[in-house]
Amino acid sequence: MNIAVFASGSGSNFQALLDAEASGKLSAAIKLLVCDKPNAFAVERANKAGIPVYSFNAKDFSSKEEYEREILVELQKHSIDFIALAGYMRLVGTVLLDAFEGRMVNIHPSLLPHFPGKDAVGQALAAGVQETGVTLHYVDSGMDTGPIIEQAVVAVLPGDTADTLQARIQKTEHELYPRVLQNIIHKQMAGGITK
Ligand code: GRF
Repeated sequence: MNIAVFASGSGSNFQALLDAEASGKLSAAIKLLVCDKPNAFAVERANKAGIPVYSFNAKDFSSKEEYEREILVELQKHSIDFIALAGYMRLVGTVLLDAFEGRMVNIHPSLLPHFPGKDAVGQALAAGVQETGVTLHYVDSGMDTGPIIEQAVVAVLPGDTADTLQARIQKTEHELYPRVLQNIIHKQMAGGITK
C-alpha cells in the first residue's frame, strides 16, 4: 500500500508516520509528501528521509480544481493508494475526494465534533473544558466533518497553557496516527483495494 502524506507545517505527524514505517509498525510505504508551503519544515523532513515532495503554491493556480488536478497527476505517478492528511491546512475539493473516497483520513487536535477548524487547542482552553483530545476521521468536503474512526482523550490540566496542552495532544497524535492507520490499511488490504 502506497501512502501520500499531505502537510502544511512542521510535519511532526508526518515524522511519526515515517518513524512507524521505519520500525515496522506501519506496513505501508510512504511514497510522497504533498505540501502547499514550500518552506514548511515538513519538506525538510521529507528530504532527510529521501521521500519525494510535490510542493505547490495555491496562488499559482486559478482554482482548487486546477491545483488538485496537478496533485492527482503526482499521486498517480507514485501509484498512491491512500492519503493521510497531517496538518494540511486546506479543504479538500471534489477532484481529490472523488478519486480517493474512503481512502483519505485526517487527524484533528480535538474530540470532534467539538472545536473543528483552526486553533482547536485554543478553542478548548477558551471553552474551559476538562477534556479534549485527538480525532482520526475520514475526509469529506466539510471542515473536519467526516466519519470518525477513532478518538483519544487528553485531559486539560489546571494551569495548562496552549503550549503545554498542545504538547500533550501532539504526543497522543504521534501514537494514535500510526496505530490507527495501520489498522485501516490492514482492513483495506484484507478487503482488496479498488481504484
Ligand atoms: C496537528 O495537531 C494535527 O492534528 C492538525 O495539525 C497539526 C499538525 O502538526 N491537523 P504537525 O505539522 O504534524 O506537527
